[in-house]
Amino acid sequence: MSVGHILAIDQGTTSSRAMIFSPSGHCVAVAQQEFRQIFPQDGWVEHDPEEIWQSVLNVCREALGQADEKGIDVVGIGITNQRETTLVWDRQTGRPLFNAIVWQDRRTADWCDQLKQEGYEDLVRERSGLLLDPYFSATKLRWILNHVDGARARAEAGQLAFGTIDSFLLWRLTGGAVHATDVTNASRTMLYNIYTEQWDTELLDLFGIPAAVLPEVRDCAADYGLTEKRLFRQRLPIGGMAGDQQAAAIGQGCIEPGMIKSTYGTGCFILLNTGKQAYQSQNRLLTTIAYRVQGQTSYAIEGSIFVAGAAIQWLRDGIKLVSIAADVEGLAGSLDSNRGVYMVPAFTGLGAPHWDPHARGAIFGLTRDTGIAEIARATLESVGYQTYDLMTAMQGDSKTVPKTLRVDGGMAANNWFLQFLANLLDLPVERPKVTETTALGAAYLAGVQLGLFASVADICNHWERDAIFTSQLSQTERDKLLKGWQKALSRVLEGDN
Ligand code: G3P
Repeated sequence: MSVGHILAIDQGTTSSRAMIFSPSGHCVAVAQQEFRQIFPQDGWVEHDPEEIWQSVLNVCREALGQADEKGIDVVGIGITNQRETTLVWDRQTGRPLFNAIVWQDRRTADWCDQLKQEGYEDLVRERSGLLLDPYFSATKLRWILNHVDGARARAEAGQLAFGTIDSFLLWRLTGGAVHATDVTNASRTMLYNIYTEQWDTELLDLFGIPAAVLPEVRDCAADYGLTEKRLFRQRLPIGGMAGDQQAAAIGQGCIEPGMIKSTYGTGCFILLNTGKQAYQSQNRLLTTIAYRVQGQTSYAIEGSIFVAGAAIQWLRDGIKLVSIAADVEGLAGSLDSNRGVYMVPAFTGLGAPHWDPHARGAIFGLTRDTGIAEIARATLESVGYQTYDLMTAMQGDSKTVPKTLRVDGGMAANNWFLQFLANLLDLPVERPKVTETTALGAAYLAGVQLGLFASVADICNHWERDAIFTSQLSQTERDKLLKGWQKALSRVLEGDN
């Protein structure tokens, strides 16, 4: 038997994955399962919690089976997850009261607008580091408590538990023994004070949330209990937990202040590590907890784009322009320019730095000879332009010029996209050897807790580069592209008024 492998559970927006990593960060087993996306109304997005739980169990069992066959010893579990997605369940039965309301869901947009008009945005930002937007958990949780019959009274009586996906999985994995979350997930609820590192009573009052529903908040590397006996062949300690973007930052080794990573999953999330200092953004970015390990908190500035890989998924599954996502790369590369076609993928509103939940997507510049290639290219380019906007806002906040951008996630496999990104940002773009940084980060955190690594700094020695892309574009060409994007973007933002 080999020693010291960790099972990472990566519960994402469109699929659940289980990956088993060696202490040097090599993936030795992987299983993945997609689940249903439920769209009950325009702007609403839900997941069935039982489907999520079943998919997680299935992939864990499959990956553990692969490890068994190879004689690999798994010693613990790390959990990482789509953040903000909100669940409420019955403490007695463990059954959810309602579907999980997904981070992309905009059903509480009007209430957020009202709170903004009443002048609450500063309070929210000063305490949670976040902006008043339906993206975060607080207004989704209030919606469930107000819309499910009897929920509020039962919540006040201590019969219900609230959690993001990490807490729900932990509850189920430990057979209801542990109701906890980690600081990174807590910092996305809009109920947690990221400075005092406690649930904030004023925010709880503002959003009408009874404290009795809240999970306990722990470090990212901590004792989260043991898996229930009946689930796997052996009981496993759960030692790591972090929201997926924070886990990716750890997997990317971004632990020094000034280091930046950008993850291209369903959305795109850029995190700039600011160390012990929590900076308040002047450019409508978020302040968030990057991680807390061994009691030491590191902060980050985050830029969140709601649609990145989801736009490619839309090309494949929505309008069926391509049969596999990888075809988009060839189509984009088949053109010598974008031919003036721009897409703004505001399918679920716009995130940072615009924060417009009412905006919707659009394609501009269509002519009689526009074809699939132009649309594919405009879709890929749109993710690059949004990254540019976030990086510009971040530089405005941090006043430092980053040396490189480390990228990961599904779209990091697309060389055309990474070259476009480097051209646009005029910055070296680095792809690591292991692009599954989210799962890797969760495994590393559990590894710290279980004594496989001495500290987070220890982890960084394992980061290895696969490829680097540097700009091959003139400033004049860059300016021309950006002008076209800004025009398209302004039309979407104006169209909303
Ligand atoms: O904040 C939402 C984010 O955590 C979702 O990540 O990878 O599922 O798109 P992903």
